[in-house]
Amino acid sequence: MNDRRRSLAVFPGSFDPITNGHLDIIARCLTVFDAVTVAILVNPEKQPLFTVEERVEIIRESHQGDPRVKVDTFTGLLVDYAERAGATVIVRGLRAISDFEYEFQMALMNRHLNSRIETVFMMPAKRYSYLSSRLVKEVFQLGAT
Ligand code: PNS
Repeated sequence: MNDRRRSLAVFPGSFDPITNGHLDIIARCLTVFDAVTVAILVNPEKQPLFTVEERVEIIRESHQGDPRVKVDTFTGLLVDYAERAGATVIVRGLRAISDFEYEFQMALMNRHLNSRIETVFMMPAKRYSYLSSRLVKEVFQLGAT
């Protein structure tokens, strides 16, 4: 009998909107972990393009039929959410060196807050290195199709 505990990763973010780079990271998570929960931060201080409900729906639709991918929302500290969810790993995508400083600070703060939760960085495919939700939003709002 296999009594290995199932490994669950939390992939947190704003996902406003989710990009192909995010989808690439989710696919990579599934090659390393048994399951991944995509956790959308509910941030009342931000004016999002898509509501939280829309973002949940978009991500759910993109992974319909795959029971290994769950979508959830959270408020408050990410490490508290990860612990409640039963995850021991937070996954973040690293596209370019410009991501590093911010991600490093967040990872160290999260470790300070809860050393039981490990942050793992994954690189998306090279073609997504310069793709971001902010750019997708901007070109969409300026009328690009
Ligand atoms: O996609 P984003 O906007 O870069 O994701 C940032 C996110 C949601 C991962 C980050 O803002 C976060 O974890 N917020 C929750 C609050 C928290 O735990 N802060 C302390 C860690 S620095």
